[in-house]
Amino acid sequence: MGSLIGNESVGTNMDSLLRENRVFAPPAEFAAKAHVKSVAEYEAMYRRSVEDPEAFWAEAAGELEWFAPWTKVQEGEIAEAKWFVGGKLNLCHNSVDRHALGARKDKVALLWEGEPGEVRKITYGELHEQVQRFANVLKGLGVVKGDRVAIYMGMCPELAIALLACARIGAIHSVVFGGFASHAIADRVNDSGCVAVITQDISYRRGGEVKLKSIVDEALKKCPTVKNVVVFQRAASSAVSMTEGRDIWWHEAMALAGAECAAEWMDSEDPLYILYTSGTTGKPKGLVHTTGGYSVGTYLTSKYVFDLREDDVYWCTADIGWVTGHSYVVYGPLQNGATVMMYEGAPNWPEPDRFWKIVDAHKVSVFYTAPTAIRAFTKWGNEWVDKYSLASLRLLGTVGEPINPESWMWYHREIGKERCPIVDTYWQTETGAIMIAPIPGAVAAKPGSATRPFFGIVPEVVTQEGEPVPDGQGGLLVFRKPWPSLARTIYGDPERYKQAYFSEIPGCYFTGDGARRDEDGYFWLMGRVDDVINVSGHRLGTMEIESALVAHVKVAEAAVVGRPDAMKGQAIAAFVTLEGGCEATEELKQELRQWVAKEIGALARPDDLRFTDALPKTRSGKIMRRLLRELAETGEVKGDTTTLEDFGVIAKLRENDE
Ligand code: WT7
Repeated sequence: MGSLIGNESVGTNMDSLLRENRVFAPPAEFAAKAHVKSVAEYEAMYRRSVEDPEAFWAEAAGELEWFAPWTKVQEGEIAEAKWFVGGKLNLCHNSVDRHALGARKDKVALLWEGEPGEVRKITYGELHEQVQRFANVLKGLGVVKGDRVAIYMGMCPELAIALLACARIGAIHSVVFGGFASHAIADRVNDSGCVAVITQDISYRRGGEVKLKSIVDEALKKCPTVKNVVVFQRAASSAVSMTEGRDIWWHEAMALAGAECAAEWMDSEDPLYILYTSGTTGKPKGLVHTTGGYSVGTYLTSKYVFDLREDDVYWCTADIGWVTGHSYVVYGPLQNGATVMMYEGAPNWPEPDRFWKIVDAHKVSVFYTAPTAIRAFTKWGNEWVDKYSLASLRLLGTVGEPINPESWMWYHREIGKERCPIVDTYWQTETGAIMIAPIPGAVAAKPGSATRPFFGIVPEVVTQEGEPVPDGQGGLLVFRKPWPSLARTIYGDPERYKQAYFSEIPGCYFTGDGARRDEDGYFWLMGRVDDVINVSGHRLGTMEIESALVAHVKVAEAAVVGRPDAMKGQAIAAFVTLEGGCEATEELKQELRQWVAKEIGALARPDDLRFTDALPKTRSGKIMRRLLRELAETGEVKGDTTTLEDFGVIAKLRENDE
């Protein structure tokens, strides 16, 4: 990797953030009732958590139920750390049984609204029964502990039930986001050799139908390991094709399944799930989260960052297809016994007020969304918000990318009515749980900063050599001390795990993000320093998009970079050279954009696509993305071109610029 800190995007973000110096103390009324009521209390707890992490994490873990105790809280260096060694537990048990068999049996666990408008309320008691039945369905298909099960569904309660049932029997779930195309499903299913797929006929989105089952059918033509497909019926009448001997209907199987299924005793370090995320090189990485540490991390962060209370209606708008949905729609809040709101569809269907309508209708009290959504609401206009009281809200959150201070202010003013603290939560698929975020009753917010570390977390800003960077200056964000919820490996590729996260800065986990710490100890995230684009809060590897482009017969070479975009955070700009004899037409441009959408999913569709005769390369043949990024951003190249092999290339690229 070249000069990490020299990346322009880090510098650009930093300038704009440096000007922000507003501070918002936690509202007194909120603080009075919060779990942590003052900054002094936060600091005392934090100090204890990093001075005696074993005692701190043992106490946290003790709030969950264990079938057998651990013998050691933590063992090993950060790259091979184990937590709660020897302990036995089950995350489904802690998310469901613990409440269903206790005082929360009749409390609503899942409060769901479909896009067409129907509402379902599932209590912890009902969830307990459904999850056990579905666990028996999976067992009936021969799925056993350690088997991989792919899940490709829309946002409906059955999706949460599918995850929980896998966790119950120790099957490793691998959720594939419902917006991905069949290629992406096939790649992920094959990478981990899934034995079954759980899907549904269709899902509703923006008034239309997403034909999930037929996309799965297409994918499975290339997936020899899959023996069964379970199909949840979402539509009143479904016209999907069912493959004899392979496909079964969810409702038919559930009707025949037994109502009791004991939760498997999982070892603390047994894998819980695989989730794919984009990296700098090649195919997506199947990150593996394990049971004990992930349970404790998601439980504790949900409790303190969202300050969960018994009467909350908690809504994280993320799709369960992303890690945010795993940790903060399903496992974190359910372990806390919360009532979890789930919504199936688009925020602007049938009109741009849908979210606020839901907040008022279901008395949502904690609301967690992405900056990209907030920017969309801002654009749609306040009239869509003003129709609603939003009086039930008491806490707001964001995740996925840095929030620009003006969006933060809008969120604070128009949604929070200047009454609700905002938690800007920084974390990653790999970290499993929130790493940096204000504890809302204690830590004052600064718009655009994720503020201070969560308990037990020690972020550092360092140079490429691992030396500390003085406060106020940008550097690389790393974590030197282990924490429970870190992903343990990349499925099937432990070497790549070490290489990707622990080789860059010796002795540290490297996030791939630039950051700076200010004089108050607040962290300001400055974006990725690697070749990963953050589109609407979702990480996309430039390599994957380039590979898709090159797979097209007419494309010879492709380079993809991100450029700043007011709505999406970053937009995708692709530079393409064509095979000899192929003509650079507008039709081909559109065809290639569509091609990427079809290969990977609509999220990855390039916003700009430019044809060029050649790509700027170094003498050693590396594409100089830095120059392309500059060109995509400003239309010019002023940066250092000393290593450029052929200067004519840049001149040509500029000529082609529309
Ligand atoms: C990357 C992780 C964690 C769930 C959503 C994305 C960026 C995430 C923030 C934030 C600034 C953020 C980082 C990070 N990011 N949250 N609050 N402030 N940047 O998960 O797909 O694994 O992406 O998202 O660049 O590395 P992910």
